[in-house]
Amino acid sequence: MSALSENCHHDRATVDGEHRMQIELIEALQASLHHPTGTRPGPTALMDQLQSFCAAHFMSEELLMRFCAYPELDDHIADHERTLDTLAGIALNQPGDPAAAEARLSEIKGFLTAHIRTRDLAFTEYYRRWSEVGSADRLVE
Ligand SMILES: [Fe+2]
Repeated sequence: MSALSENCHHDRATVDGEHRMQIELIEALQASLHHPTGTRPGPTALMDQLQSFCAAHFMSEELLMRFCAYPELDDHIADHERTLDTLAGIALNQPGDPAAAEARLSEIKGFLTAHIRTRDLAFTEYYRRWSEVGSADRLVE
């Protein structure tokens, strides 16, 4: 492991916790759409939290991917952008059509869950191998 990679963490429990938080925020937002006046924080505040959390989490992932020369970076970023763009579109529609907002949240929850189970898992495996050899150049398929 290189000196740099020792300071660069991609610890599985932390990443799993962040992914869980993303899904829980989506679910909390969906629930708040059913009871917009009975939940605190309300839908707008939850959407702000969800967007901010996703943006920070995605930026952190992408920085680490660049750092270790992850070859699937562009496809991964495309998924992140699709997620953020979808959330931004929902935010623009609020509070006009809760049913449409919830449908789009369900769609993005499914998309993000699949992303976590496939692309994020693939990166975790790449990072594990990269950490062992300390360089993308020395990674052997
Ligand atoms: Fe990701």
